[in-house]
Amino acid sequence: MADPDTYIRQPWGMVHGIPVVRAFTYNWDKVDIFQSHPKDIVVASFPKSGTTWVSEIVDMILKGSDPEKCKQDIISNRVPMLEFAAPGKMVSGTEQLEAMAPPRIIKTHIPAHILPKSFWENQCKVIYVARNAKDVAVSFYHFDLMNKLHPHPGTWAQYLEEFMAGRVAYGSWHNHVRGYWERRKDHPILYLFYEDLKEDLRREVAKVAQFLGQDLPEASLDTITRHTSFETMRDNPTTNYSMVPSQVMDHSASPFMRKGITGDWKNHFTVAQNERFDQDYAQKMSDTDLRFRTQI
Ligand code: A3P
Repeated sequence: MADPDTYIRQPWGMVHGIPVVRAFTYNWDKVDIFQSHPKDIVVASFPKSGTTWVSEIVDMILKGSDPEKCKQDIISNRVPMLEFAAPGKMVSGTEQLEAMAPPRIIKTHIPAHILPKSFWENQCKVIYVARNAKDVAVSFYHFDLMNKLHPHPGTWAQYLEEFMAGRVAYGSWHNHVRGYWERRKDHPILYLFYEDLKEDLRREVAKVAQFLGQDLPEASLDTITRHTSFETMRDNPTTNYSMVPSQVMDHSASPFMRKGITGDWKNHFTVAQNERFDQDYAQKMSDTDLRFRTQI
């Protein structure tokens, strides 16, 4: 399994009934039994919802709001992705995390119902970031075009059908956002929205700091807000994924830091697609009080 091509453009694999990157499936037994520490902080999300953004905010808070400390390593080393694996090729997320001392910041896209039990047992703090489904679908489509560990997404029209049916990585967006929304009733989960971060980043940074028990001075809030703006993160090689080899992430197909806005879906959905999506959405989200903004 040492040949990198083994993992390129493979169909999804399945774990606990959920589609995931095929390469990740080979290490899932280690994921299931992963041992958390009560001081670990989990950054959880459905993909393309602002995970990197929130990871950088949390790391800045833990590193005393010092951008230079954060710039010492790429985000995927500072905030490892729990389920990441490409056996024979790269160190897995579980191996990376086992070599780190708590409090570790742990990124994951694993849905709440199959998150390793240890996180719930240890009452680890979870910061969940959610983004409206339409912008997620558009961002995910472009990500599948550039991330060659994913199958090619086909046309936008084909992809949108797959997204609605939950045949994309981590399955149904609807179930994912709802799963953590329900869990927050009996677990320390800070539930953030991408649209709120766009609307007032400083306010949301303060919210995260408070959740982590840190009372940040104004100057630190200013520094973190500047350091985590879209433009700064886009131009920062430790956050923009430009250091990932192009055989895996092809930024010429679509950059990782693509547009970073709310409402880009309007440039991609046809009127008919929008109607169909809204109808499907209303059905799947009818019995929840979870609400999203598709424009700000
Ligand atoms: P777009 O593709 O819409 O531009 P994730 O980190 O969960 O994979 O999410 C990636 C999405 O978040 C991308 O969205 C990316 O541009 C956006 N993003 C990352 N950092 C951001 C920031 N500082 N401000 C706004 N959007 C950001």
